[in-house]
Amino acid sequence: MRLRGATPENEVTMDVLRTKSIEQSLADTDDPEYQLKKQLSAIDLTVFGIGVIIGAGIFTLTGRVAAEYAGPGVVFSFVLAGICCGLAALCYAEFASTVPVSGSAYTFSYATLGEMVAWIIGWDLVLELMLGASVVAQGWSTYFVTLLDELGMSWPDSIGPAATSDFSWHVNVPAVLLVLVLATLVTVGIKESLRVNLVLVAIKLFIVLFVIIAGLFYVTGANYDPFVPPASDPLESTGLTQPLIQWAFGLEQQTFGVLGIVSAASVVFFAYIGFDVVATTAEEARNPQRDLPRGIIGSLVICTVLYVAVALVITGMVRYDRIDPDAALATAFQDVGRDGFATLVAAGAVAGLTTVVMTLMIGVVRVLFAMSRDALIPHGFGRTNPRTGTPVRISVVVGLAVAVVAGLTPIAKLEEMVNIGTLTAFTLVSIAVPVLRRTRPDLERAFKVPLSPWLPILAAVICVYLALNLSIETWLRFLVWMVLGFVIYFGYGYRRSRVGRETALAERPGS
Ligand code: ALA
Repeated sequence: MRLRGATPENEVTMDVLRTKSIEQSLADTDDPEYQLKKQLSAIDLTVFGIGVIIGAGIFTLTGRVAAEYAGPGVVFSFVLAGICCGLAALCYAEFASTVPVSGSAYTFSYATLGEMVAWIIGWDLVLELMLGASVVAQGWSTYFVTLLDELGMSWPDSIGPAATSDFSWHVNVPAVLLVLVLATLVTVGIKESLRVNLVLVAIKLFIVLFVIIAGLFYVTGANYDPFVPPASDPLESTGLTQPLIQWAFGLEQQTFGVLGIVSAASVVFFAYIGFDVVATTAEEARNPQRDLPRGIIGSLVICTVLYVAVALVITGMVRYDRIDPDAALATAFQDVGRDGFATLVAAGAVAGLTTVVMTLMIGVVRVLFAMSRDALIPHGFGRTNPRTGTPVRISVVVGLAVAVVAGLTPIAKLEEMVNIGTLTAFTLVSIAVPVLRRTRPDLERAFKVPLSPWLPILAAVICVYLALNLSIETWLRFLVWMVLGFVIYFGYGYRRSRVGRETALAERPGS
């Protein structure tokens, strides 16, 4: 696996398994040209986490999944998906407390599984976060137009969100405007973005609590009977839209019954995506060893409790077979004659989805920043601006890319791509925890996953199982994205890698 570059000046050790030492990762954070400001507390990180986790998932998926897969049993699906994310979150927390460096899973795997796996994860995270931001920006645009309608104003269809069924070429102007405004905030500075975030998260939490408390008054016990509806015929899906697991092992996706709850869990998984983004801001935390595990686990626990409560209330307000699969939260209140409450919920969704888009963009900027510092993508791209303390060039490029994708493409159809990107990253991080324990037992770990290696292995197995439940076409698209990534890596990063060059220098005779 080892070769040598030809000329002495660009000599690089050619080894895709080369790792970047933890000490080197930590030392890099002191480079003044690539330095981020350390200003976030545990509370900031928890708010940041809640800001990105609660979003389109709870506002739309709860209803769809209850109606189509699980009935009131969707409560168990949320618990199941929460447990899966909880296991992965413990692994992220151990890593973040050991290697508090920007870049999240990318940085963790560079230290353990080698450069090529790190590249795969970094490339994967770019997919997860950029597509995630674009998908949620389009969801925001739909809620924004609905809210305007409810307030008696209207937005022209020709420059609004496209109907997902018949996509025609036009610009989704609200989505573009949202992304550009948020990209400006992200470029100006993280503390400023977090201040806006704090206000929006407060509104979002208020609305979610409002749904739970106001909804409780309209719960009818009879709607919970049956709590787990009896299993019905498996879903008919064939060709490229069938889950990979069905094609490979003949396991058909079940609706209702116990297996329906499991199928639903792989869908509502989307609602939890985002806690891992907390780890991308590791370098900006004041006391990362202590606060990152608190931020990651704290935000996840709070969201799980809220999700379970929302699911209980909504399925108690409306019988599962009459739930609106598109906008369950707002419609549930209309069904019980409270239209005003429905407007409030729509306003909450607009505020709520704003923070998701912003946080996902901050995440992708931080991952690209870490990759650029390692010269796997052009080095100058990630230089931070001394005044704002943020990587301005990357922020501008990411903002423009997300604006184009959200404004011009039928991206909502690619929603599953976000899940596959996330699940792959979770799997590799879970595997990396026991690997680092073995290779670097000496490192100080402020937080440790209990029962390692069993819990990390269980986390990886569950993530792989959920990923196998995604459709064949999603896997094929993911493969195409990965091939593109390998072309860039072998055409550029592999030769320019800073770790590769430094290793070659150290190994030169006489050095
Ligand atoms: N968890 C985020 C959401 O539900 C991605 O929108």
